[in-house]
Amino acid sequence: MTYRPRRSVLYMPAANARALEKARGLAADALIFDLEDSVAPEAKLEARATLAASLAAGGYGRRERVVRVNGLDTPWGEEDITAARGMAPDAILVPKVSTAEDVSRAAALLGGLPLWVMIETPLAILNLRDIAAASSKAGLACFVLGTNDLIKDTRMQASRARAALLPALSATVLAARAFGLDCIDGVYNDFRDEEGFAAECRQGVEYGMDGKTLIHPSQIETCNRLFSPSESEVNWARQVIAAFALPENASKGVITVEGRMVERLHLAMAERVTALAATVAS
Ligand code: COA
Ligand code: MG
Repeated sequence: MTYRPRRSVLYMPAANARALEKARGLAADALIFDLEDSVAPEAKLEARATLAASLAAGGYGRRERVVRVNGLDTPWGEEDITAARGMAPDAILVPKVSTAEDVSRAAALLGGLPLWVMIETPLAILNLRDIAAASSKAGLACFVLGTNDLIKDTRMQASRARAALLPALSATVLAARAFGLDCIDGVYNDFRDEEGFAAECRQGVEYGMDGKTLIHPSQIETCNRLFSPSESEVNWARQVIAAFALPENASKGVITVEGRMVERLHLAMAERVTALAATVAS
């Protein structure tokens, strides 16, 4: 089993040449080069050119390179996609997707490039099942939660524990899992607050997220650590695998390991944990 780790997914404004340069040496699993909300309208065209030059120069190693284009209903969206296709990124991230038709429309423009979509509108939450179904047909790999936009459009209060957002987060993970997609959590804006950030990473892990989108390099290390299997999880997984490998358990569906009931579904979970740990260690 191999997995594409997507623990830490760092945004940077495509207009920021310094950030594009710095990203070549950062330990993020994936980079999102943003042409959308972090770039002012008057800087859009220059940002495209800056990004094209950076991607042509290369040096991003095995970090996944994702270009976030402007929404398809904006003056820049379609041209961004045409430009991004020429940059041959690993994926294109389309924002403000609200319906299955939005997914099909975006997929048709990509010329076979992998599609990621932002889940960030109230309508997208209501249409999650259809969006996920259309997405898996279109070869989409990832849902990316846009929690700032969700808060803006719903008028939820962004409390520290994200209580109001949790149903939407959970529904997005469920839809992603039902259709075999990855799900990346939203950003933590207060990037100097390390403790609050770590708590939000743990919450994302608890809700089943594959990783978290980040806005600052200082968030990468904590994020990678918290979204990797812990030592105790790996040890437990090895115990489960070893127990099922014993000859006397070869034909058993359920066994006891350290006083706990363990079924073959736990073996599958254990194998995923060890494969993930091996991938992130390599
Ligand atoms: N990606 C890569 N490098 C980044 C970065 C990012 N997202 N954010 C900051 N850096 C770099 C800076 O260029 C600086 O590099 P240097 O010191 O080697 O020159 C270093 O990290 C420290 O940056 P710092 O001074 O602490 O931050 P800042 O005040 O320059 O920028 C933000 C703060 C929030 C404006 C900036 O982090 C940012 O633009 N983040 C991404 C925003 C974004 O893309 N939003 C869209 C999705 S929500
Ligand atoms: Mg957004």
